[in-house]
Amino acid sequence: MSFRTIASSPAEPLRVVVAGAGNMGRAWLTAVTAAPGVELAGVADLNLTAAKDAVAAVGRPGLAYGNDAVELARQTGAQALINVTVPEAHHSVTTAALFAGLPVLGEKPVADSLSRALSLVAAAELTGELFMVSQSRRWNPQLSRLRAMTRHLGPIGTITTDFFRAPHFGGFREQIAQPLLIDMAIHAFDAVRFLLDCEPVSVYCQSYNPQWSWYAGHANATAVFEMESGTRYVYNGSWCSTGAETSWNGRWRVSGQNGTALWNGDDEPTLHTPTECTIPDPPPYSGIGGALRVFVEALRTGQRPSGEVHENVMSLAMVEAAVQSARTGRPARIDAVLTRAYADAVRAEDRADVCRVLQNWPAVRDALATRGSDLGAVDPVPAAPLGVVEPLVGQVDRVRESPGAGDLGEAETDGHPQTGS
Ligand SMILES: NC(=O)c1ccc[n+]([C@@H]2O[C@H](COP(=O)([O-])OP(=O)(O)OC[C@H]3O[C@@H](n4cnc5c(N)ncnc54)[C@H](O)[C@@H]3O)[C@@H](O)[C@H]2O)c1
Repeated sequence: MSFRTIASSPAEPLRVVVAGAGNMGRAWLTAVTAAPGVELAGVADLNLTAAKDAVAAVGRPGLAYGNDAVELARQTGAQALINVTVPEAHHSVTTAALFAGLPVLGEKPVADSLSRALSLVAAAELTGELFMVSQSRRWNPQLSRLRAMTRHLGPIGTITTDFFRAPHFGGFREQIAQPLLIDMAIHAFDAVRFLLDCEPVSVYCQSYNPQWSWYAGHANATAVFEMESGTRYVYNGSWCSTGAETSWNGRWRVSGQNGTALWNGDDEPTLHTPTECTIPDPPPYSGIGGALRVFVEALRTGQRPSGEVHENVMSLAMVEAAVQSARTGRPARIDAVLTRAYADAVRAEDRADVCRVLQNWPAVRDALATRGSDLGAVDPVPAAPLGVVEPLVGQVDRVRESPGAGDLGEAETDGHPQTGS
């Protein structure tokens, strides 16, 4: 399948409405107003005061705002929508936008359940509009370098992520059953798919809540994924671990036949092998500003961006499979989780036309893989120019880039406030 293209340029910028004026919505407003080739047409939030305050905060008090994002886009002549609403609203807002002829750039997670994510895949196919999910870590240049190093290591045996922090968020995260797995781990799960360029097969996960935890649900989780390549990915995380906290990106080890790559999540990764290699330059952009640039470029060229919905869904499948395994105490196969979500999607679909698209799919994994690949994926790590040669054995470069932060944190990406989940 292909998607509708939209020509834009700095002289004729893409006009966008931002839906959701909460913490992350404000970060997106800053990114949009800073982006050449993009023009902010309006801000929508169910909470009109939040929308009004947000337009004032970006120095555009006269800008249009409202509580219905798609209606606001229609009134202002916007050409695309950025969905930064709460996860529960992702499905309804994105569906309405796609059927109104608006391509969508959406915050993670693609939807609040895998079944609703599949519904959105079908809606994108039916409307022919681009739906790209922004997983902000994908645009971290250090992660891109770690990916290039991973390719130098030959067959990969194990990848590990340690994530240990102690944020006091308040709000929903301290109430839900699986705050770490549902709200945070998707970044690491998506990153491992990006590093390996392959998909998950199964997972065994234990989650639990230490006795001192201030969360009602499970703040700790350890998950072991088997990937298609045979690599095991071990995620070991805690949201109530005080002292010696890791980066918001976690601490990574990639162990392969030819050596090891390490990344502490904040500094340049290091490669530990007997041989030198050439590491391509990462893309010249990062964070949500990078995602926006890639979205605009994809609309211009028709080339499938990293994060296009078909490609993104498997990261949410990893989350649902880990949650299921933690609940049942048994390993969960990704295909079984996808099959159940697909049945739920068909059963729950409100729109007959979307339901028909779903029913015409072959096996879900095939539908995600083949239809997505028809678009001709664009690798976020450019093939050329190859530049920087790194004599990497044991080297630690102190270049700091895009440290993550908690939802209430202070760190920045692209100069914009960046939140951790
Ligand atoms: N990439 C990251 O690092 C990162 C960090 C934080 C949050 N996020 C994601 O960003 C999204 C928003 O998170 P947040 O922290 O800004 O949440 P938030 O609760 O601060 O803000 C969400 C806003 O959406 C509004 N909203 C809800 N339903 C709406 C609808 N139908 N139409 C218009 N507005 C609606 C709410 O009124 C609220 O103002 C979530 O999907 C979250 O997972 C990503």
